[in-house]
Amino acid sequence: MAEYVIYETVAVLQINNPPLNVLSHHVRRQLMSGLQQALQDTAVRSIVIMGKGQIFTAGADVKEFGTEKALSDPSLPTLVEAVAASNKPVVTAFHGTTLGGGVALALASHYRLAASSVKIGLPEVEIGIVPTCGVSQRLPRLVGLQTAVQMIVSAQTMSAQQALTTGLLDKVVSGDLLSEAVGFAKSVEVQALADRRVGSRAVPGADTAEDVLDAARKRLVRRSRGAIAPLTCLQAIQASLLPFETGMKREAELGQYLWTSWQTGALRYAFLAERTVKRWYLPGNKTVNYRTAEPLVINSVGVLGAGTMGVGITICLLQAGLKVVLIEANKTQLDKAVTLIQRSLGGRSHSKQLSHQAMQLRATTDYRQLGEVDLVIEAVFEDLALKRKVFQQLDSVTKPQAILATNTSGLDIDKIASATQRPDKVIGTHFFSPANVMRLLENIYGRHTSPETIATAMQLGATIGKVGVLVGNCPGFVGNRMKGLNFTEAMFLLEEGAEPQDVDKVLEEFGFAMGPFRVSDLAGGDVHWRRRIQAGLTTEQGPPPNTPLLYRQGNRYCPLADMLCMQGRFGQKTGAGWYRYESGSRAALPDAVVHRLILKHRQDNGLQRRNISSQEIVERCLYPLINEGFRILEEGLAAGPQDIDVIFLLGFGWPRHTGGPMYYADKVVGLGILLRCLEKYRALHPRSAHWVPSSLLQTMATQGTSLTAWAAGSRL
Ligand code: NAI
Repeated sequence: MAEYVIYETVAVLQINNPPLNVLSHHVRRQLMSGLQQALQDTAVRSIVIMGKGQIFTAGADVKEFGTEKALSDPSLPTLVEAVAASNKPVVTAFHGTTLGGGVALALASHYRLAASSVKIGLPEVEIGIVPTCGVSQRLPRLVGLQTAVQMIVSAQTMSAQQALTTGLLDKVVSGDLLSEAVGFAKSVEVQALADRRVGSRAVPGADTAEDVLDAARKRLVRRSRGAIAPLTCLQAIQASLLPFETGMKREAELGQYLWTSWQTGALRYAFLAERTVKRWYLPGNKTVNYRTAEPLVINSVGVLGAGTMGVGITICLLQAGLKVVLIEANKTQLDKAVTLIQRSLGGRSHSKQLSHQAMQLRATTDYRQLGEVDLVIEAVFEDLALKRKVFQQLDSVTKPQAILATNTSGLDIDKIASATQRPDKVIGTHFFSPANVMRLLENIYGRHTSPETIATAMQLGATIGKVGVLVGNCPGFVGNRMKGLNFTEAMFLLEEGAEPQDVDKVLEEFGFAMGPFRVSDLAGGDVHWRRRIQAGLTTEQGPPPNTPLLYRQGNRYCPLADMLCMQGRFGQKTGAGWYRYESGSRAALPDAVVHRLILKHRQDNGLQRRNISSQEIVERCLYPLINEGFRILEEGLAAGPQDIDVIFLLGFGWPRHTGGPMYYADKVVGLGILLRCLEKYRALHPRSAHWVPSSLLQTMATQGTSLTAWAAGSRL
């Protein structure tokens, strides 16, 4: 609801709809009636709009999206325009985080003041829509095009101080917001309103407008990679150069265009999926779930192995305020890691001026220091025998109730757990690199992992700002198991006629930040080469004895990646991989050596070159991965398609505007078309098992069932 109180000549309308003060229909109705009452009351000379509780308002009520209520009178646009038309000065005073619709109300007001801790943001573009209710028209008039682009198109949040500097705010207050707002409103009661109406101003710096918009457009074409919302938002901002009423019409048209686009649906799905996966459960036993299992309290964590992952994991644990004991076998590596961690946390190494977070770190080579920690995350080399040995040691040095987690990227959790006397307390916590940046935490339960251990790992993810996704135990788990197929097919395309840059370009146009070959060069080709050697697929000298070059372990095999690694071409770190890199540069340059290697490989093995269309590249690289996702659901290794989608959105840079692989298959490609495509490629490539359609997909496609509807029915 919204409360109406009079302070002498000032009417104060306070939004009171906890916890986020969203502008639901009943709140809008009360605000409108308060506004009308204040306009009619001759004793009232000014009006303040503010919020009670934690924040001013988080904006429109997402639950009303697409329902009658969103349009019921007064709609948000009607309320905003009533504020703008007021003939008594309206002051919006905000605090906490002010988003979307709250910003619209503020921009329509005649004055804006805010608490010094305020954060102001327009996140609409992230769910694929234009900020409407006049935001795209008023904001550029108030703060200029450059800042408006930053706020609307890049969804950058602003602090109170920044908002004051740009002119969005008239005043920042540090005292009591209510009394400051009332005092401010009184002080402007006699001021003329004409030039306070943002809609009647001209956009400042209109003479350089085209340059600003052109530069933004060029940047966006490069960055948005197929997402339509950023460029459409830019068009709305551009319309602010037109007369206000014309611009408002354009804003409404563009808003409608995005609102009805499939990308908005995908982005809203992605937003909700990140929340859905928190409601975890075991697909095979739904009684074990987020409601029934209690997490243990974790105050201190041990991290074992201070390499790439150990360092990143330690940083995010410390940033969340946890105590960390970091153990590393190699003293030189340990010292290097400590310096990196301190630098990252803003403290200076070898000085007493360490940040408070860095002071929570104890770094040592002595395992016995792990005696008191509540949980250990192991991040030593990816070697099962080593991990089993290390878990045995951990079992003996840690307290009996401590949880033992492994950061393995694909080894069998049960085999690691069986090295301990507490398999119920062993779990996989798979971070993604760089671990202090990537928001995904893939948590893997083994056969004996207890509900309490699962709940604790999921809670730990939330504590350190990650999105935890619970999955079952299988080689590569969900993410790496599916992702591997993408690279396999990308290499087959090279054998059939494509060049690495052709494949990368098509997948980058699809929306990935980097195509598979650039990713491989960045991560280091040797990592997967070592895994293929361990899996017996190849050796350091070439194919294992008596093995056909193009066929391994029952499937078609492309040896090109092995051939590059045998030449020491591991990617960026060696200056050459699928591409070449000039010294000090990360720019991937097509390489004649790779071109000749592929050509010779084709000739030696009688492989015919043909032209490969962009569509085939997308289908070949993405559909096997999606098919594997269906198999994962069929095998009960993930609770639902949302879990798989979140893994790909947050862990593998899958373009968010397509919703993730499973959503894309269901809503964009269509399950019937996907099935027919898999069958076509299965006939053409019978020696690749990944083209055999999963039975779940076959059933759904034949029955015309939607994956999203199927998932909604089964989710807790
Ligand atoms: P790394 O090679 O950078 O670091 C491993 C560290 O463990 C080294 O510093 C090594 O000295 C230390 N170590 C080895 N044996 C030890 C022992 N017995 N006691 C204490 N320390 C020991 O490896 P990285 O990349 O950090 O990987 C670690 C784990 O994380 C592996 O299981 C890997 O598969 C997994 N992982 C790696 C990702 C990546 O992108 N690098 C991503 C996700 C998981």
